[in-house]
Amino acid sequence: MDLAHKKDVYVKTLEERLTALLKNKNYPPVIYDAISYSLLGGGKRMRPVLLLAACEAVADDDESGISPELSETLRFNCALDFACAIEMIHTYSLIHDDLPAIDNDDTRRGRPTNHKVFGEAMAILAGDALLNMSYELMIDACIRHQYLNCLPALVEIARSAGINGMIGGQVMDVHTEGTTVDEETLLYIHEHKTAALIKASIVAGAIIGGAGGRYLKTFRQAANHMGLAFQIKDDILDVTGDSSTLGKPVGSDARNNKNTYVSVFGLEQARRDYQYMWDSCIQHFNELGAEFLAAYAKDLRDRVR
Ligand code: IPE
Ligand code: IPE
Ligand code: MG
Ligand code: MG
Ligand code: MG
Repeated sequence: MDLAHKKDVYVKTLEERLTALLKNKNYPPVIYDAISYSLLGGGKRMRPVLLLAACEAVADDDESGISPELSETLRFNCALDFACAIEMIHTYSLIHDDLPAIDNDDTRRGRPTNHKVFGEAMAILAGDALLNMSYELMIDACIRHQYLNCLPALVEIARSAGINGMIGGQVMDVHTEGTTVDEETLLYIHEHKTAALIKASIVAGAIIGGAGGRYLKTFRQAANHMGLAFQIKDDILDVTGDSSTLGKPVGSDARNNKNTYVSVFGLEQARRDYQYMWDSCIQHFNELGAEFLAAYAKDLRDRVR
């Protein structure tokens, strides 16, 4: 299996569908410009790739109990809509995260941030629009595909994106700026602001693929470790990374007096914990026989952007 090729196919399929979804427009061009600038403007597309790959990993598994009459095409089409929806939620979170009121950052994905180009009001509205579009798309997918597993996947994503997930984490991230937090609070921030949506990508994909019971539990365990580890690496890169490679500023956390895994646990422990969590995630994917996910996780472990 060629990892790079498979990943490219997922990304290309996703970007074609996103482009088509945005084109179907009956709204002011200015908001189309602001939305498409961020949504179609690069990024690793990690969450959609995880969602699509988790769905296909289950579909590949003989013991998953998947009903044979449910065609692979149906599952993949559902997963593709959900992959688009999760990238919309993620992109909206980045547009809002970069605003002067939150992290006040000027670059993202190698370009000026949304508010730098379109102004703060339009950036807020572009984020709002993307969040709504994601739910419109998932609800529409539930109705259009008439596939029972869509609804639990939607619930998984909604919970992880909301006040008990990403928003809760962002609230505490902002609320604790300039203070010193204990380890438990830092873990709350990271597990919610970042890990929740990454976990939901993998779990929703596995649900759409047909996973349940212990099988789904192992996907959850892999996803748990990946989600937290991803934000630890993000914090490390904010200290040791290179802004032109990252496509966003380094030193943003220090400038904003943020609590990060590095500021609370130190760089050495951050690196150690990161390695441990990531290796455990890869081991779980190997247990699941999810060959592509294990290889993709290795790729992400060594990322420099
Ligand atoms: C950045 O996420 C924000 C975090 C949750 C750390 P990504 O690193 O996945 O950003 P893109 O999508 O590749 O730009
Ligand atoms: C962002 O965390 C998490 C979100 C929900 C967007 P960061 O603020 O650390 O992400 P970057 O470093 O700006 O990408
Ligand atoms: Mg932030
Ligand atoms: Mg930020
Ligand atoms: Mg960061």
